[in-house]
Amino acid sequence: MSTAKALAVLISLSLCTPALALTLSPQEQAGKRLYREGLSSSDAQLTARVGASDLSVPASVLPCASCHGRDGRGRAEGGVRPSVLDWQRLALSQGARQSNARSYPAYTDASLARAIQHGVDPGGNRLDPAMPRFELTLADQRNLTAYLKRLAEDRDPGVEEGVLRLGTLLPADGPLAEAGRVVRAVLEDGVAQLNQQGGIHGRRLELVVADPGPDQASAEQALMRLLDQEQAFALISPLAPMLDQRLATVLEQQGVPLIGSTPRSGGSLQMFDPLPGIATQLLSLAVHARESLGLAPDGLRVVYAGNDQAALAEQVRERLQQQGWVLPPAEAFTGQAVESQGIVFLGRARAFAELAAAAQAAGREPYLFASSGQVAGAVATLPTQWSNRVFLAYPFVPGDWTEQGLATLAGLQQRQGLDPRQASLQVNTLCALQLLTEALKQIGRDASRERLVAALEGLHDVDTGLTPALGFGPGRRQGMAGAHVVAVALPGPRFISAAPYRPVPDSP
Ligand code: HEC
Repeated sequence: MSTAKALAVLISLSLCTPALALTLSPQEQAGKRLYREGLSSSDAQLTARVGASDLSVPASVLPCASCHGRDGRGRAEGGVRPSVLDWQRLALSQGARQSNARSYPAYTDASLARAIQHGVDPGGNRLDPAMPRFELTLADQRNLTAYLKRLAEDRDPGVEEGVLRLGTLLPADGPLAEAGRVVRAVLEDGVAQLNQQGGIHGRRLELVVADPGPDQASAEQALMRLLDQEQAFALISPLAPMLDQRLATVLEQQGVPLIGSTPRSGGSLQMFDPLPGIATQLLSLAVHARESLGLAPDGLRVVYAGNDQAALAEQVRERLQQQGWVLPPAEAFTGQAVESQGIVFLGRARAFAELAAAAQAAGREPYLFASSGQVAGAVATLPTQWSNRVFLAYPFVPGDWTEQGLATLAGLQQRQGLDPRQASLQVNTLCALQLLTEALKQIGRDASRERLVAALEGLHDVDTGLTPALGFGPGRRQGMAGAHVVAVALPGPRFISAAPYRPVPDSP
């Protein structure tokens, strides 16, 4: 790959200003480390005494940010709300402050130290024992105080006076180049429209596209460049399957939210996907297999083609077991006929056609279940004997489209010259952008990554006009908890709705 291609491409609708990060003095930097990680500037191990019983734990286990948030806005958990640590509110404004039913005068450096070390506020009130008492050296306390005075200004990367920067990873070459072009067109179009309407809370959106290149190493480099140099606030709809779980790890380390992607294996609380992942789609098919086709509890097998599908296949099998299916470990397809009433398949279209041919050659006619996104390309070639024996999961069907949704999609396709036959990826990307925009509007001008994650988590019943209503929840990171079940009638193929979308029980 050429360096020119590897370089992130900056798309900006007006002159771009360089990223202006807040400069912290060495003392403030040290305070930030203490605040975020509970670490001293010396070798000392800091301790925190917790609860009414004064149990001692290392401060690194309970850093300030774990309760007050990296942004100092406080995360309510259980009964008490960790206070908002804004120096303006704590010390600089006039009159008495109220917090958790305490009333107290302005903080000074000395009374701040007393609150942190002894749990007493400037009015002499005891703080709730949920606020630990920290044992700090004089230097650590000074560092921490210095940082707390700057905390409110210490914005997350990518949030500037007039700009909010989003990043994505889209390959310019290789098998995903065409998909990358589509995603890019949808994002650029949406961002331009938003900016025409004045942006979000007075900030213009800026999209930075980096090319992940051919392999995991190049993709990781591109990701780090997006985060470190380009200062992307959040990621949207990246196409970088080679990063897989590595992406989740980096996002978690840096607290970066992502919307519009599901890792092949595992998952992460930082990652939100508007549409159901393959595992959830296959579970919808299994519900149909049991309830409408009457398959026996041991009537399903999970079969996959390609090593890259193995982990996901095993995950599907586990979730099927939780739903009451009894089944052996997921099986790799190597050309053999699989003996079973029904086969849940993961892999590419070609292998799916081979699986059907192998079954037919052995005189078997199992039901075949698969995700439309993976195998739809193969069904036109299947012999008619498979009519109504193949069931595909679709996150959305044209029946979900409202007049307004349709107009949005058609307008986009026309402006960007996009092929209506690739509506799936277009809708996917549109939904990601819509949910992100919705959450950004909700958090207001005071945008932080933590608040964005909380706002995304709070989205419910969002009407996209193109899909069933979308929403997330605590620990829930897929916008839909199931899929439509569509039967394939042959010859044709004709696609016939077999079961409408409904949430699969207990899906994440
Ligand atoms: C385990 C959670 C937790 C951790 C960790 C924690 N706090 Fe708190 N903190 C709280 C809670 C809860 C309150 C509210 C107590 C109350 O209102 O009675 C609070 C209150 C405060 C207050 C009082 C603010 C006011 O308005 O009176 C200050 C100052 C404070 N914390 C600073 C810190 C600093 C600095 C650290 C890290 C060295 C830290 N906290 C770590 C939970 C925590």
